[in-house]
Amino acid sequence: MPVIILAIESSCDDTAAAVIIDGRVVSNVLADQSIHAQYGGVVPELASRAHQANIVPVVDAALRQSGVSINQLSAIAFTRGPGLLGSLMVGVSFAKGLALSHGIPVIEVHHLQAHVLAQFADPPFPSFPFLCLLVSGGHTQIIRVTDHLALEVLGSTQDDAAGEAFDKAGKLLGLGYPAGPLIDQYARKGIVRFDFPHPQLPWYEYSFSGIKTAIRYFLERETEKDSGFIDAHLPDLCASIQHHIVEILLEKLVLASEQTGIRTVTIAGGVSANSQLRTRLAEIGAQKKWSTFVPAIAYSTDNAAMIGLTGYYKYLKGEFTGLDVKPLARIPLDG
Ligand code: KG4
Ligand code: ZN
Repeated sequence: MPVIILAIESSCDDTAAAVIIDGRVVSNVLADQSIHAQYGGVVPELASRAHQANIVPVVDAALRQSGVSINQLSAIAFTRGPGLLGSLMVGVSFAKGLALSHGIPVIEVHHLQAHVLAQFADPPFPSFPFLCLLVSGGHTQIIRVTDHLALEVLGSTQDDAAGEAFDKAGKLLGLGYPAGPLIDQYARKGIVRFDFPHPQLPWYEYSFSGIKTAIRYFLERETEKDSGFIDAHLPDLCASIQHHIVEILLEKLVLASEQTGIRTVTIAGGVSANSQLRTRLAEIGAQKKWSTFVPAIAYSTDNAAMIGLTGYYKYLKGEFTGLDVKPLARIPLDG
């Protein structure tokens, strides 16, 4: 009998559902929420309401596209957290209701663990142990992965996440939200010629809040002298900011590889969609003789396929969840 998992993701501003059969992605549907762009960030209450409107059509489309009916499901996997509580609540309640009414077991999934396992959506797959640089809107971590379900966080950011650094820098440049993909696009036409202070933190710790402040002061200084400074230099500013963030991310990854002796290296999370990060990882990887693995863009940013893949590996180990489960805004990854 094949193992068929329906997966639901609603931790932030994307409502997503996927069907995974024997660890293979057969459908992966996503409704994103453009409503937040006008506010310059995700508005939790609006996100919850949009999830409520989207969840039925999204789950329906994922099932239809896979040709699977509800009665064939082995389990329903859902994101329990971390994320926005109101958003999580929609996905968790929906998963529980569907499971209860059809007598299907449920499997809770940690959103960040799922980002790491997005690597198993498409072959080739990395061999264990590997290092994963997890860079999303809310998290920046270097993780040692010794099995699908065994993770150890080696280092994290002390303040802002890398995605936040992109988004906040973009806001200062007058770009829309999320700014990461826009900075990536403008940077392609620019050259790196502005320098920002490099945070000095021990081991695999990151800090990105100082960069945001440095960029703000720099822009204030320059626009005082020339009010058209940002418009005149937007591509170069984007290229410089992107270069700065990417080099900081990779410097610690190199250190982690040297210290642990692990040369199989992956990246995950929304910021892993960044083209410069991908290019530099390939360059450094070739230099250091690493085996590098990068997920397809659709599996880098938030999606339900990664939730379903994690659900599949948990299913194989019999890791089911009670129907009294509640969403959690915060859950440690390796606690
Ligand atoms: O993993 P994700 O989709 O959601 C969270 O779990 O946070 O990550 C979203 C983050 C946002 O900060 C967004 O600006 C960033 O990923 N991002 C990028 C790119 N695409 C998405 N940052 C830089 N370059 C990109 N191409
Ligand atoms: Zn995410």
